[in-house]
Formats: sequence, structure tokens, C-alpha cells
Amino acid sequence: MSSARTIVVGVTGGIAAYKAVNIVRAFVLAGHSVHVVATEAALRFVGKPTLEAISRNPVHTDLYEGVAEVRHVAIGQSADLIVVAPATANTIAKLAAGLADDLLGNTILASTAPLVIAPAMHTEMWNNPATVANVKTLRERGVVIVGPGVGQLTGADIGAGRMEEPDTIVAAALALLDDGSARQDLAGQDLAGRRIVISAGGTREPLDPVRYLGNRSSGRQGVALAEAAAARGASVILVAAHLEVPPPAGVDLRPVSTALELQAAVEAAAATADVVIMAAAVADYRPAERRADKIKKDEAGDTFRLDLVKNPDILAGLARAVPRPAVIVGFAAETEADPAARLELGRQKVARKGCDYLVLNRVGWSQGFATESNDIVVLDRRGDIVNEASGTKLSVANCILDVIVQAGTPDHHPSD
Ligand code: C5P
Repeated sequence: MSSARTIVVGVTGGIAAYKAVNIVRAFVLAGHSVHVVATEAALRFVGKPTLEAISRNPVHTDLYEGVAEVRHVAIGQSADLIVVAPATANTIAKLAAGLADDLLGNTILASTAPLVIAPAMHTEMWNNPATVANVKTLRERGVVIVGPGVGQLTGADIGAGRMEEPDTIVAAALALLDDGSARQDLAGQDLAGRRIVISAGGTREPLDPVRYLGNRSSGRQGVALAEAAAARGASVILVAAHLEVPPPAGVDLRPVSTALELQAAVEAAAATADVVIMAAAVADYRPAERRADKIKKDEAGDTFRLDLVKNPDILAGLARAVPRPAVIVGFAAETEADPAARLELGRQKVARKGCDYLVLNRVGWSQGFATESNDIVVLDRRGDIVNEASGTKLSVANCILDVIVQAGTPDHHPSD
């Protein structure tokens, strides 16, 4: 654990302010000196006496109190770390603009300490282009953004915007204190604030009420990607087609069945995403006709011809769209045994699809599907190998995510 340091906790006016009490308490119990700076709005959600009792220090709000001791800069100058939790959309906007119209704004501007913020707001506000741009600005300045999580919001609705759990925020902040250089690459949370859409599983294309054309994808690799991305702090939407394994906790699950359903779900989610990873095995063709009643053997005879029509190529469509997510990753499962020939197929595919990265793996009767491990190379859009991995699907997932982290903060966003 780090030695006792001075942590300023900024509390702003959202319903999650009550959870700030647990954050303050955890820092105090870890032996740190904690000073709470609350906005007026925050004190409508949580009482000043509570924050004072838990922090064991006076709580400051007013810019015009303590003027003689130049409090508006003194608190910021004394801080080793500033944590704003919850951070409302309004506070995020003010921070991005560098506004200092209250004590918290002054404190942050007057400080050179690392800044951690934990956004909390409704999904619509989090997805609003203004908030997206403000979060991007803060991230580019090195602010560590923890969450938001996906889950039950204040009302009946569920979505991205819920403040990350206090334990996660505290762990992220303390990791930063222990390693001052970790401002950008906060251990374990290097995808914090990123919105990632992952498709997983295999689509099913119905022929009649009881039969479908499907494939052997179990969804394990996509689920491992979702699990790893969520663990690294991303907001994850998992578009799931017939998974054979349970989805991870903490992701926004969107179940689908056919390629067209998968397309609709991925495109809707991609509109506000930074990253899309197409790990699903999408049927290239669907039956031209979906029969209302079960097809009878006697009507078909000894051979049965089936007309198929082409499904849209969802990955290629996303890559062509304007605007489009900053990073688009495709998968290519090839049965070609020769590694050089397989690589060449991958190179052609990345060029054809127009995606930023392509994860190439070999599949066969006993390889790739329903197994616990995988063996991949990641190609960039020029066809160069940028990473390779072999091991559990979770470790492979982390190697793929490393490439996305190294691709850096997106320099454009669908909402830009
Ligand atoms: O062309 P192929 O099916 O090999 O490409 C595989 C990649 O393209 C995967 O990322 C898959 O999710 C995606 N794909 C798609 N739409 C299709 C077929 C595949 O997005 N109709």
C-alpha cells in the first residue's frame, strides 16, 4: 500500500453522490488524508455532516469561504490525487472547458495531481455528442476515466451511465497513487471510458418453424473478449447470437438470432461506439424463403434444392460507413492449413473488408470451435502482423485488446 497521501474527493450533484461516502471511507481506512470538496448540488443528495464525519475533515463548497487562506488554490496544491465521483455531465463539460466557477473547478485547475473521474448520468446524456467530445478531451489530457458501468439507472431504465462501483473507483485511484507514472495506462483499466461493441456466437437462418442453417461457433472467443474488455474498464455491448457459454456479468447483452437481426443490433450500438469487434460467425447466405409450415419429406423427394440469398456483409458495411467507429476489428476463420497461404487469405480479407484489424485463426473439424484455447495472429490494414497469441480464449482476448489500446485514443468518433 502507498504511504499516507492527501486525496481530494470532489462530489458533484448526481444521485450516485450517496455512494461517494463509501469512496471517502475506503480512502480514510487505507490511511490517507481525505478532503471533500462538494458542489452545492451534491449537498442536495448527501449531507455535509455525513461527509465530514466519514472524511474526518471539514467539507468545503463555497468559493468565498476561507479567502484569507486562498482556499481556492490551496486545496488543489496540497492534493496528491483528485477523484471526482460522481462526475455529472455538467461537471465533465466544465472540466473539459477549464471552467472555475465553483470551489471544485478552482481546486482542479490549481492542481497538477492526477485526476480520476467516475462519470454518472443517464445513457442518453453519456451518449450525447457533447459529452462524448468532452470525455475525449479529458482523456487526451491524461484524466483517468473510470466507468461508467452498465446497469440499472435511477429510474426503471437500464444502460450505460451508472457510476462504477466504489471498490473499482478506489482500486483505480490507489493504483495511480502507487505508480505516479500510471496516469495514462492505469493498471487494469486501460479501456476505461471506451465503448466497445462485440458480436459473438453464430447466427441461425430459419428454413421453416423447426429448422435453420447454422454454424459451429460457440461464442467463446467473443464472450472472452467481452469479459476482458469489461474487466479493463470498457463499457461493453455484447450482441449475442446463440451463445453456448454464459455471457459475462457487467455487459449490456443484446440477444439476436439471424444475420439481419445481428446487423440491426450491431449498427444501432455502433452509432455511439469507439470500437466494434465482429467475432460472430455470421451466415453469408439465408434461405430465400422462410416457410410458414414445416417442409415435408414427401414434397422434397430424394434430392432437395434450397435457394439461398446473400446476407449483407456487416463488417464491410461498418467499415465503409461515414461516420464510423474509430477502430473496427474483423475475424477470419480459415481452414487453410499452410500458415503462409492462410496469412495471404487474411491479407486479402482485411483489404476487402476495409476493417482496421483482422484476427486470423485456423479452424477445422477439431480446431477453433467449442475449444477452450485459440491460436491467432492480428493483421493491421496493411496486412502486417501486429500481434500473435496462443492460449486460452481469455488470454487471446487480452492480446487483441492490447492492439486496440495501442491504437490509442480514437482521433475521430462517430459523433465527431
Ligand atoms: O468473409 P468472412 O465471413 O470470412 O469474414 C468474417 C468476418 O466478417 C467476421 O468478422 C464476421 O463477423 C464478419 N461478417 C459479417 N457479415 C457477414 C459475414 C461475415 O460482418 N455477412
